[in-house]
Amino acid sequence: MAKTPIRFTHNGDERAVFVDDGQNLLDMLRRTAGDLTPKYGCGQGTCGACTVLVDGEPQLSCLTLAETVDGRAIDTVAGLGNGRLSPLQKAFMDNFAAQCGYCTDGMLMSATALLKKNPRPTREEVVEAISGNLCRCTGYEAIINAVLAAAGGAGAASA
Ligand code: FES
Ligand code: FES
Repeated sequence: MAKTPIRFTHNGDERAVFVDDGQNLLDMLRRTAGDLTPKYGCGQGTCGACTVLVDGEPQLSCLTLAETVDGRAIDTVAGLGNGRLSPLQKAFMDNFAAQCGYCTDGMLMSATALLKKNPRPTREEVVEAISGNLCRCTGYEAIINAVLAAAGGAGAASA
């Protein structure tokens, strides 16, 4: 199988790897880059568990060809908080926003992208931002509350 060399930044660190023809970004991150935070859920673009940021935008890594991230910046949960819990991760913990946790890393990346662009989102904007991330455990309320709490409670009364 042909290998293609690519370079990208992974949570701010320069990486150079070889990717296989047709290899997706999720597989490359987990198996080549050793980052297990993006999760394999459905593998077909419906669950959002594999969400990472590509140049700051949430993207489904299971549907992204690894070679297309050459020269781009990839951010994952592994890069949040510099080895500590980021404020958003702490808000998830404080609001009991993770049960089995399988959706959590994807949720965190979608919410991270939202809060970077819009630090004071409304509840509706949070709902929209995580609409591609499925959770079978929490009923979403705790997750929405956690994102609003991380944003300083803005919008919490707008529901
Ligand atoms: Fe990518 Fe489900 S694993 S959307
Ligand atoms: Fe289990 Fe969301 S916490 S799927």
